[in-house]
Amino acid sequence: MTSTLQSSGSPRHCDILIRHALVIDGSGAEPVQADVAVRNGRIVAVGQLAGWQAEQEIDGTARVLSPGFIDAHTHDDTNVIRTPEMFPKLSQGVTTVVVGNCGISAAPVTLKGDPPDPMNLLGQSTAFSYPTFASYVAAIGAARPSVNVAALVGHTALRNNHMDRLDRAASDAEIVGMREQLTEALEHGALGLSTGLAYGNAINAPTEEVLALAEPLAEFGGLYATHLRSEFADILNAMDEAFRIGKHARVPVVISHLKCAGVENWGRSSEVLRALEAASRHQHVGCDCYPYTASSSTLDLKQVTADYDIQVTWSEPHPEQGGKMLKQIAADWGVDLHAAAARLMPAGAVYHCMSDDDVNRILSHPATVVGSDGLPNDPLPHPRLWGAFPRVLGYYSREQKLFSLATAVHKMTGLSAQRFGLEQRGFVREGYHADLVLFDPETIRDAASFTDPMQPAHGIEAVWVNGQLAYRGQDKQSTSARAGRFLARTVQKTSA
Ligand code: ZN
Ligand code: CU
Repeated sequence: MTSTLQSSGSPRHCDILIRHALVIDGSGAEPVQADVAVRNGRIVAVGQLAGWQAEQEIDGTARVLSPGFIDAHTHDDTNVIRTPEMFPKLSQGVTTVVVGNCGISAAPVTLKGDPPDPMNLLGQSTAFSYPTFASYVAAIGAARPSVNVAALVGHTALRNNHMDRLDRAASDAEIVGMREQLTEALEHGALGLSTGLAYGNAINAPTEEVLALAEPLAEFGGLYATHLRSEFADILNAMDEAFRIGKHARVPVVISHLKCAGVENWGRSSEVLRALEAASRHQHVGCDCYPYTASSSTLDLKQVTADYDIQVTWSEPHPEQGGKMLKQIAADWGVDLHAAAARLMPAGAVYHCMSDDDVNRILSHPATVVGSDGLPNDPLPHPRLWGAFPRVLGYYSREQKLFSLATAVHKMTGLSAQRFGLEQRGFVREGYHADLVLFDPETIRDAASFTDPMQPAHGIEAVWVNGQLAYRGQDKQSTSARAGRFLARTVQKTSA
């Protein structure tokens, strides 16, 4: 299987040579012991490379070498610029983040005051300074984040730009303005459109508003990603709405963080996945999932319940309550849960709202990729921010044996790259960009917990982004490489 690209330099000389690793290539294929050569940011050979020489050789014996992980669902929009070392992601082997999910994006945005909920998850008003998508792309270039960035445009962000109030449907004229901005973004490489129709500032947008807004996507090969209008009892109707939008716009649909939320909804994952499979016979559909039974977002009165634990992670009027259980706060104040929540808002929360069986079933489905949905600006972030990817490899694959290691890697790399049209990424293949992670399959595990969430994972030994060493596992430090780039959508413009 040895072959080389003869493009530049001596054919048997390279910058980095990782020897004797168990290569998991991202396709779902089982590991193969091989050497991998990297030159000028690209993988130039994979195979038995005995005669090769390198500036730097790394012994990969008993280690897995896989494509760098693609975090398919993030809210790192402003963090890739404000905190470009991106340590929570890099330290778990992530080399690319997809931002702009759940209807909220940093661009194109012009705020009129405070960011509307839940755009505040992306940062305070000073973090928003990208009135056009092109200005956001330029800012990423200037910030040089340590990971690659691909971006969706948020529906709620566009509503913010064009509407005086968000508790109503957009007018035709407002939709025209939103479409113009979406088109500008698509012209500059945006992956597509996202919505967060469950949130108060989008829930009054009728399906017709999104149908009209989504129309420019197909021409650019974009996709539609959605935080469903309901993840509770009404989930099947919400999925139908998403599929209808995808069909109308003739684009693939990604259901974000697919879950069965709420006790009365537990056990419905088979039914939900059957609906996804039924739709997939007629259109392109997929989903992402984070490997935990707790969700996290801003505190929402509609989700307040005594059925399961709700932890308050931050509160603007009552910062001293951050970290406490809502139940405890309500008891301390002598009020009911809803009254306590109303007093705490704006606030953040972790909801322990899912069952193990549902998460297992959704995570193992072949249409599911891994996305952390981490909240980087939360002072007590859900542990998924630091642990999602190692948790899939350690807890779900090695310990629970939910799927093979090769399948786990596929869900974090090749499948995501294909879904988002990230060309020459997501696979260990000759000619592909050298986004790579070396890890110990016996020890890899997440260390972040709900009480101590800012902990780098164990077992990640090295991470390379575009052929540059970005993270060293022996001392759990990032390097100064910062070799990430903005990744424009590479699917060709198709004629309508
Ligand atoms: Zn969401
Ligand atoms: Cu999200």
